Amino acid sequence: MPSEKTPEGRVESILSRLRGVLPAQRPIVLHEPEITDTDRRAVDACLASGWISSIGPEIGRLEQALCELTGLPHALATVNGTSALHLALIGVGVRPDDEVLTPALTFVGTVNPIRYQGAWPHFVDCEEATLGVDPERLSAHLERVAEVRSHGCFNRLTGRRIAALVVVHVLGLPARMPELEALARRWRLALIEDAAEALGSRLAGRHPGHWGDFTVLSFNGNKIISAGGGGALLCRDPERARRVRHLGTTARRRHDWAFEHDTVGYNYRMPSLNAALCRSQLARLPRYLAAKARLHQRYATAFAGLPGVRLHQPPPGHQSNHWLPLLQVEPGLRDPLLAAAHTEGIQLRPFWTPIHHLPMYRDCPRDELPMTESVFARGLCLPGSPKLTERGEA
Ligand SMILES: Cc1ncc(COP(=O)(O)O)c(C=O)c1O
Repeated sequence: MPSEKTPEGRVESILSRLRGVLPAQRPIVLHEPEITDTDRRAVDACLASGWISSIGPEIGRLEQALCELTGLPHALATVNGTSALHLALIGVGVRPDDEVLTPALTFVGTVNPIRYQGAWPHFVDCEEATLGVDPERLSAHLERVAEVRSHGCFNRLTGRRIAALVVVHVLGLPARMPELEALARRWRLALIEDAAEALGSRLAGRHPGHWGDFTVLSFNGNKIISAGGGGALLCRDPERARRVRHLGTTARRRHDWAFEHDTVGYNYRMPSLNAALCRSQLARLPRYLAAKARLHQRYATAFAGLPGVRLHQPPPGHQSNHWLPLLQVEPGLRDPLLAAAHTEGIQLRPFWTPIHHLPMYRDCPRDELPMTESVFARGLCLPGSPKLTERGEA
């Protein structure tokens, strides 16, 4: 048995606590969808109806269910979260050569749509407590580089308009939205919530989406609820909702037979088959949230008292869906731990490589990003599938 003082010994003691939480089966993947007979029946019924593509009653039913879940009045089901983000940027008026403030600690799908619009990401730092955009650092950064003019907020260094702020609810943890909303108002920025990972999370009792102009969800295969692939765009404003719905359905004018399109639109509507699967899964969200909270508690108990290791906990008032639990370790331990876990069939994952390190985003404007670098160097995502709590339960 290696000593707990050596790196090998520390890796082994973390792994042994992980084994104590996880079932014996191998491999254990990071996040696994559960497909039940009810899901199969829902998809079969959709197939039997003949409405399998991006028109049909299943899409509207899913949109209605998402409105009920989030408390937001308008929802558009899309082919994925990335396309929903693209529509959100268009919906708030982001234009080519604008800048959009965005965290660097996120999945690349947050940032790519900014370039689809011909705009530039402008990276800002995250905070340790919520892993989301740090409002105090952002405020100080804007004071240094930005000014509000009659037609919006401008970057004094690049001369470009800063049109919007995208906030990400990282790993399901709600960011500090009231503070970020106040900043967006003060600097005349549109606000978009990327809640791709945060379905079912709550901040002060409200679902993500109550602060931004638009909010995005993802139903990718690794998310808490899956449509196979899919996403959604939610908002409060009826006129904005109408516009993105039109643009997302190829900008086709309503007509019983004629095909007329009044602008360049996008084929971004979710197909009915995916909507049927998604809505069937959505009914199990409360069960999944409870199972994931139990799993998080087990990890917390297992890692308590282990020096140099910390399971990230949501701050008070920030209720996470615990999409993926985050373990923070000493920087030098992250990669040996990843390698050792993978060798024995347990899938752990580092954070996404911070976006400003990717070749296509290296030269974009940014604040200093010390917390982003630190969280990336220390963070490991642990397996988070709801079914992992079945171990030892009746
Ligand atoms: C934070 C974040 N933003 C955006 C996306 C993009 O969603 P999708 O994969 O459905 O396009 C994802 C996930 O996949 C994500 O995790």
